[in-house]
Amino acid sequence: MIPTMDGANTQSSSSHLLATYKPRETHFVRGEGCHLWDQQGRHWIDALAGIAVNGLGHNHPRLVAAISEQATELLHVSNLYSHPAGEELAAKLCELTRMQAVFFSNSGAEANECALKIARKAAWLHNQLDPSNPRGSHFVALTGSFHGRTLGSLSVTSTPRYREPFAPLLECLFVAPEDSAALEEALASNPAALILEPIQGEGGLVSLSRDYLQAARRLCTASGTILIHDEVQSGCGRTGTFLAAMDAGVQADLVTLAKSLAAGLPMGATLVNEDLKGVLEPGDHGSTFGGGPLASRAALVFLDEYQNGLAENISARSEQLTQGLDALVRSSPLVSERRGRGLMQGLLIPDRAAECEARAFEAGLLVGTCAGDVLRLVPPYVLSAEDTDSILDLLQSVLVSMSKQS
Ligand SMILES: Cc1ncc(COP(=O)(O)O)c(C=O)c1O
Repeated sequence: MIPTMDGANTQSSSSHLLATYKPRETHFVRGEGCHLWDQQGRHWIDALAGIAVNGLGHNHPRLVAAISEQATELLHVSNLYSHPAGEELAAKLCELTRMQAVFFSNSGAEANECALKIARKAAWLHNQLDPSNPRGSHFVALTGSFHGRTLGSLSVTSTPRYREPFAPLLECLFVAPEDSAALEEALASNPAALILEPIQGEGGLVSLSRDYLQAARRLCTASGTILIHDEVQSGCGRTGTFLAAMDAGVQADLVTLAKSLAAGLPMGATLVNEDLKGVLEPGDHGSTFGGGPLASRAALVFLDEYQNGLAENISARSEQLTQGLDALVRSSPLVSERRGRGLMQGLLIPDRAAECEARAFEAGLLVGTCAGDVLRLVPPYVLSAEDTDSILDLLQSVLVSMSKQS
């Protein structure tokens, strides 16, 4: 008999899904832009976008047309055969990120897994060439980090609750964000890489300062450490620049993307600079589905929209959202801080973020929570000025009703 945690299985006993999530019973049946409807015709405004995924919102006409057309032509051929959409997408992504080559996978965790493997292989190659000054196989990451649930990406994720049941993991030293001296000391141990999120998502929408991002770059260069930026959540334009680290003028050696990249289809990408381009050779890594024609076509539509007006909408709506959230911080005694930037923002609502999320849901607004106390808004990039006003109005009325009952 295998023991289970008391109360861990909250899924209805008739479900055949493993109880890794606690889903609401609501069944959404239709979406349009930032709007969702359930079977009974109840309406919600979506400020969560499937957890920072649906950049083009729901039922985007160009996206639907491209996917439908591709489905009638070809769904999958494997990476044993090249296809034009994959090549075109890789070239466009390299141009937008100023990187040199891409490996496509299906999720953020896989994108990070590939980045960690590239760093490990680079260390192995280095040690063969220069055994007198060996690089270690361990990693350095930041407290508050979240990089995924596979064993490699979990190893560099700091949350003890996620890690402990799955030990032993890969060796990783965790240092506090914004402490450059601690980082310098950790890098002196010659790790295979430093991995960080320029804006920590699951960790509570914590933006790393420009100074810290620049210091991390400098320290990595000085110590010969590979720098990995996990932009799975903050990338693909979500924070106002294509990569969040561009705001600090910092270029990593490896960058990972997923979430919004294929606008709702599963896709991850690991991008490398010139120095790391030749590290992986045929047979070193792979993915049966990664970068297939369907997801690549979807991502091409997303990037084309991004370059033709969507980026401007993100900037305008980000400004509007920032002003509105700042006003909520000033007006509500329950909110102590605005976090994040662009269309990756949140409110610190000590002890009551989950209640706020639940009440918002009842009021017809989808938002999320992270790090326990933070209400998270990661809306579709296509949201309009009216959608943004509706989100802010609904949040305000929820916060007012919560304060009356505290
Ligand atoms: C920064 C970051 N990295 C990695 C992941 C893992 O992505 P996925 O769930 O697609 O594996 C996430 C997911 O939330 C994330 O926010």
